[in-house]
Amino acid sequence: MGMGNPDLPTPQHIVDKLVETVQNPRTHRYSSSKGIPGLRKAQAGYYERRFGVKLNPDTQVVATLGSKEGFANMAQAITAPGDVVLVPNPSYPIHAFGFLMAGGSLRSIPATPGPELFEALERAVVHSIPKPIAIILCFPANPTASVAELDFYRDVVAFARKHEIYVLSDLAYSEIYFGDVPPPSILQVNGAMDIAVEFTSLSKTFSMPGWRMGFAVGNERLIAALARVKSYLDYGAFTPIQVAAAAALNGPDDCIRGTREIYKKRRDVLIDSFGRAGWDIPAPEASMFAWAPIPDQFKHLGSLEFSKLLIEKADVAVAPGIGFGEHGEGFVRIGLVENEQRIRQAARGIRKFFEDTDSNSKELSKTGA
Ligand SMILES: Cc1ncc(COP(=O)(O)O)c(C=O)c1O
Repeated sequence: MGMGNPDLPTPQHIVDKLVETVQNPRTHRYSSSKGIPGLRKAQAGYYERRFGVKLNPDTQVVATLGSKEGFANMAQAITAPGDVVLVPNPSYPIHAFGFLMAGGSLRSIPATPGPELFEALERAVVHSIPKPIAIILCFPANPTASVAELDFYRDVVAFARKHEIYVLSDLAYSEIYFGDVPPPSILQVNGAMDIAVEFTSLSKTFSMPGWRMGFAVGNERLIAALARVKSYLDYGAFTPIQVAAAAALNGPDDCIRGTREIYKKRRDVLIDSFGRAGWDIPAPEASMFAWAPIPDQFKHLGSLEFSKLLIEKADVAVAPGIGFGEHGEGFVRIGLVENEQRIRQAARGIRKFFEDTDSNSKELSKTGA
C-alpha cells in the first residue's frame, strides 16, 4: 500500500484497440511528439463533456508521456535559475523536484484549500525576491486527499491574474472521487485560460499507469512552450498507445464508474477495518489514498520509523509522510491499491502489532523498565 500504483487491469476494449493498431506497420514509425490529432481531439472532447470547457486541440492540448513527464517538462520550459515557485508541502514529489531540477527555488504553501493557503500566497508575493512565477495546485491531492471546490479556483484565478503568476493544476484524480460532486477543473473559471495549465492522466482514470499517457491543457503560450521542449526530447508515445488512449477517452464510461466504485469500497473497508484495529483514519473523499495520522503511541517515532515498524511487525507497507515534505511529518499515506481481502489482512496485521506493543509496554512499566 506504499505506492499509488493502480492494480486493476486496463479495460478490455482499450487493450483490444492497442492490439488491433499495432498490427499495422505504419504505426511502428516515430509518432507525433505533441500527440496525434485524434488523441488531442479526444482529450478536448473529454474536457467539454466532463467540465463544459472548450479547448482548441491544436493549440491548447498536448499529450504527454504520463502527466508526470508533462509536469516535469513544463517546469523545465518555464523556469530560469533562481525563479521562485509556490509549491504545496506536503506534495507529490515532482511538484517540487521538477522545479528544483530546473534550477528554481521553492516556497512552501499549505496543501489544503483554505484561508491559510491564501494568506501564504499573499505573503509570498510580498516577500519573495524575485516575485513567484507559478503556483502549483493538486486537488484531489496526493498525498493528503484534500479536495477543492470551484469557488476556491475562482479565488486562485483572481489572485494569479492580479499578480501575473501562472497556475499549474494537477488533476490526476479527476475521476477518482467518492461523493456526489465530481472534482472541478480550474479551467471552468472565466479567465483561467490566461494563466493556467492543467494536467490529467489516464493512469488512474482507465487503470493505465504503465502505458504512460497524460495531458497538459490550457494556456496557449505555456502549452506551446511545453510542446517545444518535448519536440527536442521525444517523438511522442508509441502510436498504438495513442490510438488506444483516444479510444479510451472516446469510449464508454461505465468502466470509469466501475473503477470508482471499487476504490470507494476499498476506502470503506480500509477505514472500517483499520478503525476496528485501533487506528482512526479520516475517510478520504477522493484520490486513491488515505492520509493517516500516526497513532498517538507511535508519534514520537516519526513517520519513517513508524513505516519501517509497520513493515517489520505488521507486514504492511505505507509511504511515510516525511517523504512528501517536512509538513507531511506525523502522517503516513496508505494507497487503496490492494483488494478488500488484502486490506482486511493488513488490518489484522496492524491489530496484532498494536496489541503486542500495548502488552509489551504494560510489561515494561510493571517491571519499572
Ligand atoms: C498527483 C499526481 N500527479 C501525477 C501522477 C503521475 O501520473 P502519471 O502516471 O500520469 O504520470 C500521480 C501518480 O501517482 C499523482 O499522484
